[in-house]
Amino acid sequence: MTDALVIRNLRVRVEGKEILKGVNLTLPKGEVHAIMGPNGTGKSTLAYTLMGHPGYEVVEGEVWFKGQNILELEPDERAHLGIFLAFQYPVAIPGVTVANFLRTALNAQRRARDPEDKGIPIAEFRKLLKEKMALLNMDPSFGGRYLNDGFSGGEKKRAEILQMAVLQPEIAILDETDSGLDIDALRIVAQGVNALRGPNLGVLVITHYQRILNYIQPDVVHVMMDGRIVETGGPDLALHLEEKGYSWVREKLEGDSVLA
Ligand SMILES: Nc1ncnc2c1ncn2[C@@H]1O[C@H](COP(=O)(O)OP(=O)(O)OP(=O)(O)O)[C@@H](O)[C@H]1O
Ligand SMILES: [Mg+2]
Repeated sequence: MTDALVIRNLRVRVEGKEILKGVNLTLPKGEVHAIMGPNGTGKSTLAYTLMGHPGYEVVEGEVWFKGQNILELEPDERAHLGIFLAFQYPVAIPGVTVANFLRTALNAQRRARDPEDKGIPIAEFRKLLKEKMALLNMDPSFGGRYLNDGFSGGEKKRAEILQMAVLQPEIAILDETDSGLDIDALRIVAQGVNALRGPNLGVLVITHYQRILNYIQPDVVHVMMDGRIVETGGPDLALHLEEKGYSWVREKLEGDSVLA
């Protein structure tokens, strides 16, 4: 079987309130899945839980990747296993340049995988960074700026994708990487993701808008509502939601619960 991220019956509490109420989802490597759904239904909660944010209390469930229940791992161990999260609201780290941040992150990952690793040689890193920045149409001066400090919304999102390009994860979770992007930036971010797409990468795109899915064609679209995945389909599902909204999903759910 190909490697996959397998989420089973995941229930999560935030500040004492149950937000995820039994999420089931399988994301095989090599596929792109989208999660859509109304505000406040738990999409970001799912992303943060997968990365091990301490504010998210797992009440029940498992998340398997490479033979391990990642819920038992620390956030850095999850990252070293190849799981990457691009945040909806990236934080600024004044005093740390983009280049330094990326090299430190890459070296930490290399050392976690091989304790003998001496770190990427500077020249090799510069070449890698230059290549990935070119791929994302980023000005090379970007590498010398402090991470996210005074970055525009679009620049933050590009910096996230650059991080992904440098770290080469096997599972990437993009939480609203499209929000606040102008059309050109959206295209560049999407091109960046597409360039990284391949049999070794599974991507979970959390989004409100069908628009980004025109550029990053998903294999599967899921709808999250009230802390559960309530509908799963092909790319058509996203188009249908764009046109009709979520009321029909709600009505269908209510119909189902009347029958149940
Ligand atoms: N740290 C927190 N403290 C209190 N409540 C929280 C916290 N994080 C999430 N929640 C609550 O959990 C619910 C789900 O939030 P979440 O951010 O997962 O929604 P979302 O589906 O990502 O929404 P959006 O589409 O607006 O990004 C919301 O009611 C939110 O207020
Ligand atoms: Mg969110």
